Amino acid sequence: MGDIKKGLEGVVALDTSISFIDGLQGILKYRGIEVEHLAEMSYDAVSYLLINGILPDEQELTDYSSRLKNERFLHHNMADVLKICEFGIESLDLLRTAISCSAHFDTEKDIHSPEANINKAIRLVAKFPTMVAALERNRIGVEPIGPNNDLSHGANFLYMLTGRIPTDLEAEAIEKDFILSAEHELNPSTFSLRIAASTLSDLYSAIICGLCTLKGPLHGGARKGVMDMLDEVISPDNAENYIQDKISKKEKIMGFGHRVYKTYDPRAQVYKDIARRISLENGDTVWYDMAEKLEHIMYHEFIELRGKPIYPNVDFYSAVVYKYLDIPSELATSVFAIGRVSGWIAHCLEQYSDNRVIRPRANFV
Ligand code: SDX
Repeated sequence: MGDIKKGLEGVVALDTSISFIDGLQGILKYRGIEVEHLAEMSYDAVSYLLINGILPDEQELTDYSSRLKNERFLHHNMADVLKICEFGIESLDLLRTAISCSAHFDTEKDIHSPEANINKAIRLVAKFPTMVAALERNRIGVEPIGPNNDLSHGANFLYMLTGRIPTDLEAEAIEKDFILSAEHELNPSTFSLRIAASTLSDLYSAIICGLCTLKGPLHGGARKGVMDMLDEVISPDNAENYIQDKISKKEKIMGFGHRVYKTYDPRAQVYKDIARRISLENGDTVWYDMAEKLEHIMYHEFIELRGKPIYPNVDFYSAVVYKYLDIPSELATSVFAIGRVSGWIAHCLEQYSDNRVIRPRANFV
């Protein structure tokens, strides 16, 4: 047996045409297009790009958006399933259960043709926001709200969550969030679902593997961790003490560091800009100011003093955006998943199209 790379660090496991990362230059591309450029498009266009491999033309985009809108509604039996959250289950656990149940209402669940897989993909992308909004409304004891098909994917999610039509900037912020969260090569959740897909398990089962893996605080759960940290810090004046305390206890600071990026995560830069703009629209910049202060202290402590490339990752300023959008921290990982589902589906389809079961070896000690 060769050398073991703990955590598979630096191991190249497969070829992909879905995304490209240069972790030293801070470059991320989906299907060859820089994420900064994609962030100016609609989530529907980016979702189409990821799943189909090319950007849609105008007609293809209209058709795709209208198919997504037609699939936003949930099966009537799902209402009862989603009410389980009244028992206080964490939102991602409930979303996992809800996706699992929704598979039983999909008559194509066990049909594996490319056409059936695209139909299921559209249902999944369309229904994720409806489920997340409904489970949160159940949690707080108010009736779920049905989709508004005059609104974009992102704006409709905020509408279903709050019952209020979002401002243009709020709609832009959530749309950008879904785009920036949509795909990231062989991150832990995507790798886990490619393993499931490689056994020729169905699309729903694979997506559930992705959800389960996203949940952890070292992965998608860090977004909730950052929101909780902002609540704990309360004011920019407390930021220094907070970081020093974490460092002295050798605890990880949520939203910083990355296995691949050894420079600024390009997604964090776009999030930072939208967080600043939305804080100004909101008229209360305290969350943003606190985050900037934390970032400055981290830069000084890790990069200047210790020479360690620990920069803000995707979860840092996205958490600030969620604060301004009034998304509760318990919901943060589920909202991340709404964006990520298109990338997950693209990886499943890529795995199915040129499959060999993923089965590495272990060194017995
Ligand atoms: C995501 O991979 C992806 O693509 C994921 C993702 C996606 O789009 O899907 O980008 C989304 O999951 C982002 C990461 C979210 N997690 C966090 O924010 C949690 C905090 N960050 C870390 O725990 C950590 O940086 C990881 C998990 C992100 C990366 O872990 P690695 O590559 O295993 O690095 P490590 O834990 O071995 O750390 C290396 C060194 C250590 O110091 P030494 O022991 O070498 O002295 O850096 C230190 C660590 O202690 N370090 C940190 C730190 N991150 C790394 N120290 C304090 N705070 C941190 N956040």
